[in-house]
Amino acid sequence: MKNILNAQWIKSPRCVKDNEVVFSKKINIKKDIVSASLEVTSLGVYLAKINGERVGDFILAPGWTSYKKRLQVDTYNVTDMLRKDCNVISLGVAPGWKAFTYFGMHSGDSMLGFSEVAALCALTIEYADGEKEIITSGGDWTCENGKTVYSHLYNGYIYNPAFVDICPAQALVFPQNKKNLIDRQGEKIIEQERLSPVEIIRTPSGETVLDFGQNMTGYIEFRIKGNKGEKATISHAEVLDAEGNFYVDNLRSAKAQAVFVCDGKEHVYKSEYNFFGFRYIKLENWSDEVKKENFTAIVIHSDIKRTGYFECSDERVNKLFSNIIWGQKGNFVDVPTDCPQRDERLGWTGDAQVFVKTASYNFDVEKFFIKWLADLRADQTPWGTIPHVIPGVFGPDDNSSAAWADAATICPWQIYQTYANTDILKDSLQSMKKYIEFIEEHSFDGIWCRSWHFGDWLNLDGSSPEDCSKGTDKNLIATAYYIYSSDILAKTMAICGEDNAEVLEKREKSILAFRREYMENGRIKPEFATQTACVLAVHFGISDDIAETAKQLNELVTECGHLKTGFVGTPYLLHALSDNGYNETAYSLLIREEYPSWLFSVKMGATTIWEHWDSVREDGTMWSTSMNSFNHYAYGSVADWLYGDAAGIKLDENRPGFEHVIFAPVTDSRLTYVKASIESRKGEVRSEWKTENGKTTYTFTVPEGVDATVILGGEETKIGAGTTEIVK
Ligand code: BGC
Repeated sequence: MKNILNAQWIKSPRCVKDNEVVFSKKINIKKDIVSASLEVTSLGVYLAKINGERVGDFILAPGWTSYKKRLQVDTYNVTDMLRKDCNVISLGVAPGWKAFTYFGMHSGDSMLGFSEVAALCALTIEYADGEKEIITSGGDWTCENGKTVYSHLYNGYIYNPAFVDICPAQALVFPQNKKNLIDRQGEKIIEQERLSPVEIIRTPSGETVLDFGQNMTGYIEFRIKGNKGEKATISHAEVLDAEGNFYVDNLRSAKAQAVFVCDGKEHVYKSEYNFFGFRYIKLENWSDEVKKENFTAIVIHSDIKRTGYFECSDERVNKLFSNIIWGQKGNFVDVPTDCPQRDERLGWTGDAQVFVKTASYNFDVEKFFIKWLADLRADQTPWGTIPHVIPGVFGPDDNSSAAWADAATICPWQIYQTYANTDILKDSLQSMKKYIEFIEEHSFDGIWCRSWHFGDWLNLDGSSPEDCSKGTDKNLIATAYYIYSSDILAKTMAICGEDNAEVLEKREKSILAFRREYMENGRIKPEFATQTACVLAVHFGISDDIAETAKQLNELVTECGHLKTGFVGTPYLLHALSDNGYNETAYSLLIREEYPSWLFSVKMGATTIWEHWDSVREDGTMWSTSMNSFNHYAYGSVADWLYGDAAGIKLDENRPGFEHVIFAPVTDSRLTYVKASIESRKGEVRSEWKTENGKTTYTFTVPEGVDATVILGGEETKIGAGTTEIVK
């Protein structure tokens, strides 16, 4: 980023709202060009074109950051797009994330306190004769309303190909601080896959619905002619209801519609500034014959590379794994979001921390998290709290919820673990410290007891399923998370060469307080005893008798026969069991298909991970309309157990980045084979086992430069690079 700093921010001189504004300039080139580059950003999302051709492939550029503090600038090489003579450069800008006037349950000002869209760019041309020309956005640009006459990320768009702004104006220059500009730090969002409809459905209530067979995030490309003036409408939905009708109640206020104003001519069109979470679309005002070949669903997500694979002999578990992958694709759209469909789609910190380990095995998310964590740090308050969502569109908060705000420690630590990235620890150290200090200020005698928390969100311990956050004692959860996060802080300080004695001392005090307050004889006291309470005491190493607490957990699970955990307990539940010899219980939970379980949604036909254990109930009715997403990745965090325990590929905390791998697969007679692989920075790490005639054959593969330890039946074997087979 260089010349853009000399450009001027431009906006429309007219009052515009929720529509595309196109800024353009004619450029006459008379000499031969050696190189040309375009630096561009916008308040809103932009689509840059040169001579009508799209520049780059970044959808919804410049992405979503904490705009007031960090606004990404993209630089494109456009040498081949310019021609001698007349050229037109145009920048279409629509509201995107920046001009939201409401987010989910929150309504208020747009994020920049500036509801109109604006653009900033610089085109740098180097000519063969050595001359350099810099063309920047300014008052000499033209500005007109675009053909996307309405665009809102939740509601969708209206596109009118016949719309022509009859009175284009001069762009208006306005002063705007450029200190927030940064070079693009994250992955760009791009079109990734194209899916054809699998079925055209006529629903019982007479709707015309197309099923793409997969819940996803993206938009439809469609061929349309229609009758002049007809407003052909595509609505988006994730599911059909119990009767088989199109169901959109779970989108809450999000209209999620694409409207095309027909002009009687044939067009092939796809959204330019919007995305939707959907599997089904409903067509209305569609006078053309409905043919499958006229519709394609385009899947978009951040350009993260797939790195992890898992397969086993149980097809239902394989489907679960596929749903987890699709959940990640659907919610890694520049920011790790809770869901991609309803009037929310926010970077909920809790969801991100729950899923970060799985995410980093499935895909290469290093760059993705580097950017998001920079926004987290930017939005952290001076008093240490971390907003519930990042970018922090709810504004600064006096409060931080345990297990949500801990994204500040857990996410950087995981990125360090998976990719051996020590910079992320250095960059996060001060933020971690401030957060831990905030907790200490809100604690009494080692117990974090003076904050408000989400608790074990969506657990089944509450008196009714609608008691989203009741169940496990919130101060117990908070104190456990403090102990966990201060452990991460202490390790981070050690890696950064700082003395961590004080942190460890306070942590130790808190461990003792936890035991005193919530435990007796190695068990969680009866009045606090839930699955999640035991899971945390075991997995965070808080209990003074891990074996006994794990036994208690196993009893709690086997007594009721199923899991009861929510967002907080679920990610560690199977680990806490299988790490302590309760493999059979862990596998029983994994392969159970009655409600509540992971496979219940698979049995009910899910193609992504649901927000609730029973987003759809056995009888086809829905959990509720108030908060029911069918694409919420949090419970997909079980995949880190599939990689790490079922297949047994474990990171060595002291030699991160898979420099040393620990293979410790946990077998079960209900599966005959398991295989998994992770493409690490060092190369592919692979583990397989299969059981035949009472014998299990294990095959482990590690790349050059990596050594591994195999742990089977308590026995440790060192292996080197290449493939090793062990029969037991
Ligand atoms: C989101 C969650 C989030 C939660 C906070 C919900 O509306 O969808 O995933 O973590 O609020 O408890």
